[in-house]
Amino acid sequence: MKKHATANASARGSVTISTDRRLLDPADAAALYIELGWGTSKKYSAARMKRSLANCDIVIFALNGAGEPVALLRALTDHALETKILDLVIVPEYQRQGIGLRIMKKLAVEAKGTSIYLETAKKNFAFAERCGYEKRKGLTVFKHG
Ligand SMILES: CC(C)(COP(=O)(O)OP(=O)(O)OC[C@H]1O[C@@H](n2cnc3c(N)ncnc32)[C@H](O)[C@@H]1OP(=O)(O)O)[C@@H](O)C(=O)NCCC(=O)NCCS
Repeated sequence: MKKHATANASARGSVTISTDRRLLDPADAAALYIELGWGTSKKYSAARMKRSLANCDIVIFALNGAGEPVALLRALTDHALETKILDLVIVPEYQRQGIGLRIMKKLAVEAKGTSIYLETAKKNFAFAERCGYEKRKGLTVFKHG
C-alpha cells in the first residue's frame, strides 16, 4: 500500500481529478477514511473498499503529483432522476485548496440531469453552499445498521 499525502503537500506537485478506477488502489482509498478517523481498518478494509468501488455508480478521486490519492467521492445514481453522494473525503493536508470544489464540479457532469443529494454536518454547510447546494427543509436522516 502506498503511503499518501502526509508530508509537505506542496512538494508533491499538482493534483489531478480522475474517474479511472484502475488508478485507485482500494487499500489506499480505505486509508483515506481511516486517516480522517471515520472508522478502523476493520470497517474500511481493502477488500470492502474494493467491493464498494466496483459497485458505486460514480467514483471521483484526486491524485497528487506522486500518484497518491488525496481525495475521494463515492456516489450512487440512477442516471435519470436522483444521485446520492455517499461521502466525500479530502486528506487534511490538501483541504482548502479547491479540490473538493473541483470534485463536486466533476460530479455535476457525471450526474448531469439528476438532482444530487449531499448529507453533511453543519461544519460543511459553507462548502455545500459554495458548491451551489441548498438546504432541503423538513427532512431528517434516519439510519439502520
Ligand atoms: C468538507 C471538504 C470535503 C471540503 O473540501 P475542500 O477541498 O477542503 O474544500 P475547497 O477547498 O474546495 O473549498 C471550496 C470553498 O468551500 C468553502 N469551504 C470549504 N471548507 C470550509 C470550511 N472548513 N469552512 C468554511 N468554508 C469552507 C469555502 O468557500 C471554500 O473556498 P475558499 O477556500 O476560497 O474560501 C473537506 O474539508 C473534507 O474532506 N472534510 C473532512 C471530511 C468531511 O467532512 N466530508 C464531508 C464532505 S461534505
